[in-house]
Amino acid sequence: MTAFSTADGTELTELLGVRHPIVLAPMGGSAGGAPAAAVSQAGGLGLLGGAYWDRAWLERELPIVSESTDQPWGVGFLAWAIDAGAVQHALEFNPAAVMLSFGDPRPFVDQIRRTDAALIVQVADLDEARLAVDVGADAIVAQGTDSTISTSSRPTARM
Ligand SMILES: Cc1cc2nc3c(=O)[nH]c(=O)nc-3n(C[C@H](O)[C@H](O)[C@H](O)COP(=O)(O)O)c2cc1C
Repeated sequence: MTAFSTADGTELTELLGVRHPIVLAPMGGSAGGAPAAAVSQAGGLGLLGGAYWDRAWLERELPIVSESTDQPWGVGFLAWAIDAGAVQHALEFNPAAVMLSFGDPRPFVDQIRRTDAALIVQVADLDEARLAVDVGADAIVAQGTDSTISTSSRPTARM
């Protein structure tokens, strides 16, 4: 299981400007522009699976999501696998949110903060959760051992 929480208790819908507190997981290479846009059109937040920043994939999928919905959408990356160029590439399409998973979010915080995009950080333990709070994440995704792809050593309920 993967649990979402906003850092300051704001409703997720309010933070993201969506109708329903439903987020499409940014499954690398699988959550493409079409499903992400469909989730956003339906009132959730579609997150494009940017993962390792496959430039060709993102060059194809970013225009699809941005042109297929007029609702907020976002993009997720694996923080350990990317550099600032990946985030910049995505930010040029004006996502409403950027989610950083599985790594240190700090190298990317400033460039995200220069935009209106919400910063979502996925964490697998309490140290990562504290770091997410320290960097000012707007929303934190707590991943437990019971999630589909887990890097956590604890069930979500114990985090
Ligand atoms: C094929 C696949 C690819 C995934 N790629 C990513 C990814 O790139 N970044 C990420 O944060 N999570 C990725 N995930 C994990 C999902 O975001 C989510 O955390 C996971 O499916 C657990 O969700 P659940 O247990 O609540 O269903 C991936 C999951 C799957 C199945």
